[in-house]
Amino acid sequence: MHYFIEQYFTEEYFEELYDFAELERTVASTVRLAAKDPLCLYLFFQRYTHFNSYASAVISRLASSISLSRYLFNNPESTVTEQADRGMDIAALVLSAAADEGANESPVHRALAQYLLKILGDYGELSSEERNQFAEIPTWLRDVIDEVIINYSGTPNNLRSLVKAMGFHLASEMLGDREYALIDMVVRHENKGLGFDSYLRQNRNTVSLNGHRYKPWAWVVIHSRHNGSGAEAEHSEYATSALNMTLRYSSASKEQLMVWVQEGFDLFVELQQRLFREIFSECLKLSQEKAMFSENSKTAMSTENSKTEMLVY
Ligand SMILES: [Fe+2]
Repeated sequence: MHYFIEQYFTEEYFEELYDFAELERTVASTVRLAAKDPLCLYLFFQRYTHFNSYASAVISRLASSISLSRYLFNNPESTVTEQADRGMDIAALVLSAAADEGANESPVHRALAQYLLKILGDYGELSSEERNQFAEIPTWLRDVIDEVIINYSGTPNNLRSLVKAMGFHLASEMLGDREYALIDMVVRHENKGLGFDSYLRQNRNTVSLNGHRYKPWAWVVIHSRHNGSGAEAEHSEYATSALNMTLRYSSASKEQLMVWVQEGFDLFVELQQRLFREIFSECLKLSQEKAMFSENSKTAMSTENSKTEMLVY
């Protein structure tokens, strides 16, 4: 039972408020650095899949907080309290982003992410020990995830907290759409026939999950793709609809809601930028260590060669 809902919050509305091109630069430069080296690419995806593995859990938590808030979101046209309560309608829109995970016999996204990481490990010729070393979550990432959990959850019956969390959620979907598309662009288009793209073309690995076969890159393109779209664009639409419904069914003014939405949006933007900057630093450090190691090996080899030469002559 939906009544006319004004589309005040739209994707374009946020595109005018935020410099997405600037935010995308941080993402693209990190992926470009990572794509240069198999170890860095493994590190990148270990961090990125780990960060995203919390999405369904925290989105469900927000949907739960909204649906627990009985009589907070009401249809102003209804004079009967029990008939007016529309909280579950809003919660259902938020939850649809989490329900993609393993719904209707589709595989859980974590299984797809794990498969991609397995193939990346094979590409980098990493041993189990090396893969487990990468899985040791650094403090910076632990901190980022703790903040994601706090900001996503929302407090039941607290309108400000719920709207802020909905703004945080919308930012994660809108930026997620751009992240996956950029990853697809850099790894499979800019580096076509090179590096990991070449490995995928030569090996043609697939895995059977829930009765369907999936390629390693499925985890990326299910969410979004270069010059296309995926689940994240759909989730963004649901998240904006949830905000428009909140505007219709809550007592707060447009201006007040926008302030709260932006508070949450800003918090996610800051965390997303921190996530990619930290991965960039980790990749840079890894490349430098690798370069130093190979330089030392070369020096050791040439010293060994001169000793041999001295013995011969
Ligand atoms: Fe999503």
